[in-house]
Amino acid sequence: MPEPYAKLSLGLDIGSSYVKLVALSRRPDHWALKHVALSPLPEGSIVDGEVMDSGAVAESIEALFNQLALDERRVISGISGRAVIVKPIRIPTADPDELAQSVSWVAEQYLPSLDDVNLDYHVISTGGDFTEVLLVAAKRERLEGHLMILRLAGLEALAIDVDSFALGNCFEQAEPEAARGTVALVNVGASMTNVNVLAAGSPRFTRDISFGGYNYTEALARDLSLSVADAERAKRGELPDADAAAVDAVVGETTLELVDEISRTLTHFAGTHPELVPDAVVLSGGSSVLPRIKSSFEDTLAIPVRLLDPLARIDLGESGMDREDLATLAPHLAVGIGLAIRGDDPEIDR
Ligand SMILES: Nc1ncnc2c1ncn2[C@@H]1O[C@H](COP(=O)(O)OP(=O)(O)OP(=O)(O)O)[C@@H](O)[C@H]1O
Ligand SMILES: [Mg+2]
Repeated sequence: MPEPYAKLSLGLDIGSSYVKLVALSRRPDHWALKHVALSPLPEGSIVDGEVMDSGAVAESIEALFNQLALDERRVISGISGRAVIVKPIRIPTADPDELAQSVSWVAEQYLPSLDDVNLDYHVISTGGDFTEVLLVAAKRERLEGHLMILRLAGLEALAIDVDSFALGNCFEQAEPEAARGTVALVNVGASMTNVNVLAAGSPRFTRDISFGGYNYTEALARDLSLSVADAERAKRGELPDADAAAVDAVVGETTLELVDEISRTLTHFAGTHPELVPDAVVLSGGSSVLPRIKSSFEDTLAIPVRLLDPLARIDLGESGMDREDLATLAPHLAVGIGLAIRGDDPEIDR
């Protein structure tokens, strides 16, 4: 008889600085981590969410699979940035069987052409005269580029999700009680910051801001006349002869730019949804560990801010690693874990 929970669910997060692979296994009331690995990408392989060097990205992915000696080659991966448009729309309530058709009619009003995109949607709420729907339009060209990389790496896509939705799934799994309220999830990566305002478990608004860890490195390189490699080390506190006060000042100013942009984003959202004021901002992403990023967010947004622990409720027993081993990796894993969790979705056909 096959082992009941042998099935692995692989989340593959292809970021612009690191590829992250998370292998989870479903247990009756929780998830177990089986494997996790991260592989750096050569600079310039992915710029602004767009793949510039498919071969280099595929090689990094293959390196991860070889490192973990995995037989399972079917993954759930995600797209973000300009590859995808997410828009809340209202559809006059009709027969549920006709919803997909109604969504594509309404989508035509918002999108220049339906020929260039793959449409999907999530129902947020029903009842009354309107159904609230989150329209998801993935640019076909970018989607095909993504699938091509997976093929090059010898993988098959079980599903392609949206990074900010995966972030929401990760949060719901990590903090199920808090996910019943309204929270602003902010994942600060290398070239991008994904924002997802989640209310009662549904993403209500998402935006990918083209700003992240690279902006800090660039600012340090420029203002302190450092090479990019040294600026990256200075940012991480790993450049012994750097002027710590000067590094601190540049990091602080750059965080203010980021917080300003997020503040504008949340104000814009509050204008259309005054009833959905976030109770908290929850930070994740490789750049969320920057010094004082949390207090800077708190000062500007006047909302409690905390860091997400994506592994909080995941059983690590079978991974061969403990919390301490995973501490530096954890901030990078929110999207990858959220993608792997999608493996549980009954819509995904194995
Ligand atoms: N100790 C550290 N201190 C500051 N920044 C760090 C540290 N460790 C990693 N980073 C930054 O984290 C970023 C990578 O985070 P992450 O893996 O979330 O991004 P990504 O998914 O590759 O990028 P994106 O989603 O933006 O395309 C890099 O900009 C890196 O410089
Ligand atoms: Mg990322």
